[in-house]
Amino acid sequence: MLSFITLAISTMLYQNPQAPVEERVEDLLGRMTLEEKVGQMNQCVGVEHFRSNMGTLTEEDLLTNTAQAFYPGLVPEDLLKLTREGKIGSFLHVLTVEEANQLQREAMKSRLAIPIIFGIDAIHGNANAPDNTVYPTNIGLACSFDTDMAHKIARQTAREMRAMNMHWTFNPNVEVARDPRWGRCGETFGEDPLLVTRMGVEQVKGYQGNLDSENDVLACVKHFVGGSQPENGTNGAPFDCSERTIREVFFPPFKAGVDAGALSLMTSHNEVNGVPAHTDPWLMTDVLRGEWGFKGFVVSDWYDIEHVHDLHRTAENNKEAFYQSVMAGMDMHMHGPEFTDAVVELVREGRIPESRIDESVRRILRVKFALGLFENPYADEKTTMDVRLCDEHRNTALEAARNSIVLLKNDGLLPLKRGRYKKILVTGINADDENILGDWSAQQKRENVSTVLDGLRAADPSAEFVFVDQGWDPRNMDRAKVNEAARAAADADLCVVVAGEYMMRYRWADRTCGEDTDRSDIDLVGLQNELIRRVAASGKPTLLVLINGRPLGVEWAAENLPAIIEAWEPGMTGGRAIAEIIYGDVNPSAKLAITIPRSVGQTRMIYNHKPSMYFHPVVVTPSTPLYPFGHGLSYNTYEYSNLRLSEKTIGTDGSTVVSVDVTNRGKRDGVEIVQLYIHDCYAQTTRPVKELKDFRRVALAPGETRTVEFTVGPDQLRYLDRKMNPIVEPGDFTIMAGPSSEDDKLLKTTLTVE
Ligand code: GLC
Repeated sequence: MLSFITLAISTMLYQNPQAPVEERVEDLLGRMTLEEKVGQMNQCVGVEHFRSNMGTLTEEDLLTNTAQAFYPGLVPEDLLKLTREGKIGSFLHVLTVEEANQLQREAMKSRLAIPIIFGIDAIHGNANAPDNTVYPTNIGLACSFDTDMAHKIARQTAREMRAMNMHWTFNPNVEVARDPRWGRCGETFGEDPLLVTRMGVEQVKGYQGNLDSENDVLACVKHFVGGSQPENGTNGAPFDCSERTIREVFFPPFKAGVDAGALSLMTSHNEVNGVPAHTDPWLMTDVLRGEWGFKGFVVSDWYDIEHVHDLHRTAENNKEAFYQSVMAGMDMHMHGPEFTDAVVELVREGRIPESRIDESVRRILRVKFALGLFENPYADEKTTMDVRLCDEHRNTALEAARNSIVLLKNDGLLPLKRGRYKKILVTGINADDENILGDWSAQQKRENVSTVLDGLRAADPSAEFVFVDQGWDPRNMDRAKVNEAARAAADADLCVVVAGEYMMRYRWADRTCGEDTDRSDIDLVGLQNELIRRVAASGKPTLLVLINGRPLGVEWAAENLPAIIEAWEPGMTGGRAIAEIIYGDVNPSAKLAITIPRSVGQTRMIYNHKPSMYFHPVVVTPSTPLYPFGHGLSYNTYEYSNLRLSEKTIGTDGSTVVSVDVTNRGKRDGVEIVQLYIHDCYAQTTRPVKELKDFRRVALAPGETRTVEFTVGPDQLRYLDRKMNPIVEPGDFTIMAGPSSEDDKLLKTTLTVE
């Protein structure tokens, strides 16, 4: 009995897992000093990350680098001391379970033993750390239009993260990508607000579950807002956009993520109409809290509060920037110890009320309690690899890759018949390289990566694959190697050129695509076009496979080659999935989640443009995309017929069922992604020529016809009137269903709203 009483006395309320979270939060908050409170609002990079950069980066580099850092004046071990003092509440860029547990042990020595929450960019699996399953990146996942898969990948990623003591992913990126020059298109779910919304919602649910077990992690919807439409295509450039477009295009995926329960959100690098997002109370307080009721916490992006001073120059020093940001609604600083001392000072000076600090600390502690970090602060190093890279997850990655790869063009060359081509040339920078993993990937063990060459050799052991290695670096290709490929082509029966971009982060400055890697062009870099033309000049059938994050305007190939596959960044099983599609073991089904323009000059080219966009098309070159949103071929052909409405006329609060028959006219089982678009024929404000309002993956056997049904009601018809109020107004709407956003492929009918 006595020991029980002793235990009860020594266990403070906040340490009692049976107590309600709110009581634990209040009990703990009441015990914290101001320093400890502000410490919870501060995040730092891990000790090993610090150590690896302190010798290589300069302080000058720190001003513009958004992925590597150290803290001048400190040594890595200082982070352990600050942790023991309770001055760090979170770490990022910790890449091993051993280091995470070590840092956690230091935190548990602090006066109140508040555990660290470890954040990491687990964007497509926990790929940013070695020895984890690497799934296709978000753009490929979006091209599958498979929201269940999005959920499943997030669920599996959460399990792999917790196995290495990671608790918080800085994902889903729910930005609507509208500029192919921007290097991060591959990290997004593309250009359509509905598709981005649905993918983001399923990932939030998949990551967080009920946020109450050691298989759940905290999701983070990012970047709020507008980083995906930077003024000149470069990451962090100004976002100048009407409130109407912000509310109709960019906000919906964030609001849906918040409604789905996301308990963290990351603000964007950029200014929004003149105000840095990181100090904008309209975003972080009025909209996020006032309109949407967000209950989680807001984390800054990398040094972006400091950039309010040194870049946006709306604060005369970092302390002012911290003041503005916290008062606008910022809850956690990414990253570095300067924040803690400055904010403590601001509270002591009476400029920031301690009650404002308490708000942020409550939001952060709630999540730490919910995640069970006080009870389970560590991961088991002995069993960490039981779930990471397990067969179940690898199989999911393969299925996702198969469904993410878009067949852009095929004049009948594909699928290849085994034995038909005896000698096959394989060449190109991405033919046999780990770059297939994509952006936000660390190097993975070679045996865990299936390159295109690996996949082809496994798919057709009867063929002789002649590999001419062009190296990995598009900027430094060797013309002698291009010549060698041209000669080999003459001697081959078929040629496969695997081109695209370079994304691997460990060669940060050599990349051509990815974070902070934006371009003024969307053509292939280096000698890649020359390689393609020289190989094709052999007269042998030449297949182009692309591995890339941003859309690429491969116009010559589109006009001159028999087949093109857009594989995006398919992840560690990518080579196998690509080969299975080439040989027809898999019938491709993916469709473009983002427009592929012919050239950068066509930017901004989006399918849901306003009617006047091409009122005067440019001269000399076409004003049509190379490949439009929603486009993707199969080895079947699918026929659409019999589009009809259950009600041709409805009231403003009514709805109708749209039905369309889809028939598989091919000889193979397949999946067709049926798309539903609407156009508001006349409205108070200009409306997009079409807007995706629903989609469905439909499996069809050869000859099978399925009737696909969609509901169209207020949620699909609503838009913002001149006063920005959501309305459903009487009038005619064109209802369209078909295989892509291409007008001449869509069946159309009219719905009248009275
Ligand atoms: C970067 C990115 C952000 C990422 C963060 C941590 O600057 O903008 O998406 O989560 O830093 O890596």
